[in-house]
Amino acid sequence: MDTMTITKAGGAFCGALLVLLLGAWAGEAIYHVGTASHGDEEHAQGYAIEVAEAETGGEDAEAVEEVPFEEVYTNASAEDGESLWRQCASCHKLETGANGTGPYLAGVVDRDIGAAEGYAYSDALASMEGAWTPEELSGFLLDPKGYAPGTKMAYRGMDDVEDRANLIAYLATQ
Ligand code: HEC
Repeated sequence: MDTMTITKAGGAFCGALLVLLLGAWAGEAIYHVGTASHGDEEHAQGYAIEVAEAETGGEDAEAVEEVPFEEVYTNASAEDGESLWRQCASCHKLETGANGTGPYLAGVVDRDIGAAEGYAYSDALASMEGAWTPEELSGFLLDPKGYAPGTKMAYRGMDDVEDRANLIAYLATQ
């Protein structure tokens, strides 16, 4: 055998190997697509949802689910809420018409959103529909910026659902 023959043989072998590898790769690709459309995808999706739930279902989310605001609110104490009003009093007054940094909050429970006379609301609140039901207030007070993106109310939020219920019960007496 001369060098040329060896080179040719080697080349042929490499070519065959390449074809074989490509074939195996193509086969695998087809195999994967095939199984995906035959139920594998469903398994994959079911798993993905499980993971997503595990991630979002942290302690906070569970706590919120276990005690819905509506239930807490039925047992809320306006008396306990009164002391929480201090957190709001630097910006809000309870006398009708007395706007400060924030609008007056007399009768705010079930009042239309953005309806305080003579107060210049942000577009965020001005464009919101509906009224401040206890549920809406709870959502807003939990996370003002998350609930009404763009609001100019610079309040961090009140995490405790009981505190929110008590405070709203207090506001409902005003
Ligand atoms: C740092 C000042 C500040 C604090 C503290 C604050 N607010 Fe506000 N609040 C505002 C401002 C400013 C607005 C107007 C927001 C807008 O127009 O986007 C507002 C708006 C509101 C509104 C909407 C009223 C309406 O007429 O639509 C409610 C309800 C409210 N605040 C409740 C509270 C409560 C309850 C607290 C206490 C837990 C509180 N705020 C604490 C500044 C504050």
